[in-house]
Amino acid sequence: MGCCCGCKCCCLILLAVAIFIGASLGIFASVFPYPSHASCKVDWVFGESCWEVKSKLITQMKEWSDDDCTTKQQCNYEYLGEEGNTIRGLHTTPWLKFVDKFNFTVNTGYDGNCYVKAASESQASYAIIDFGTNYCNLRNLVIGSHLDEDAHYKENSTNAVCTMYSIAHCNLYT
Ligand SMILES: *[C@@H]1O[C@H](CO)[C@@H](O)[C@H](O)[C@H]1NC(C)=O
Ligand SMILES: *[C@@H]1O[C@H](CO)[C@@H](O)[C@H](O)[C@H]1NC(C)=O
Repeated sequence: MGCCCGCKCCCLILLAVAIFIGASLGIFASVFPYPSHASCKVDWVFGESCWEVKSKLITQMKEWSDDDCTTKQQCNYEYLGEEGNTIRGLHTTPWLKFVDKFNFTVNTGYDGNCYVKAASESQASYAIIDFGTNYCNLRNLVIGSHLDEDAHYKENSTNAVCTMYSIAHCNLYT
């Protein structure tokens, strides 16, 4: 009798826990606004030739390729090369040593502007939240090379394709 009651209670508690976890996961999935793996896709338009855009981004990666992260925040970039209209690179975060791989693909528009699709992805399979580093990996190169300073400059992305896009603080010069 006592055992039976205990088993029933046990079953009810397990059931309640299962429902609670299930509901939490469901809520989590429907509220979590970011990609399931820490990553970022951004589109840019620049009022310069794609040749210039590529060359400025490559120069910036090389300038920030040293690992002296004490005097400046931007460091640990590695230029991996160019293939067709895509350039690739790596960035390692100074403290946690997370490695993110990224690329920029350029296409000249009919209007003469350069249309760029950029993507950065954490190489750590378990990374879900990145405090905006995948976005900042890309954005800092754009800001650092002053590509944002022309009249045709445009950026677009969303939280759905870019982890923590709307709340990222890249703090280039702090
Ligand atoms: C750029 O990187 C993203 C994210 O890793 C990847 O999905 C995409 O295929 C890459 N694009 C090119 C052209 O290599
Ligand atoms: C940017 O906007 C264009 C046009 O609305 C859209 O097709 C594209 O997916 C957007 N890019 C990103 C990274 O959200």
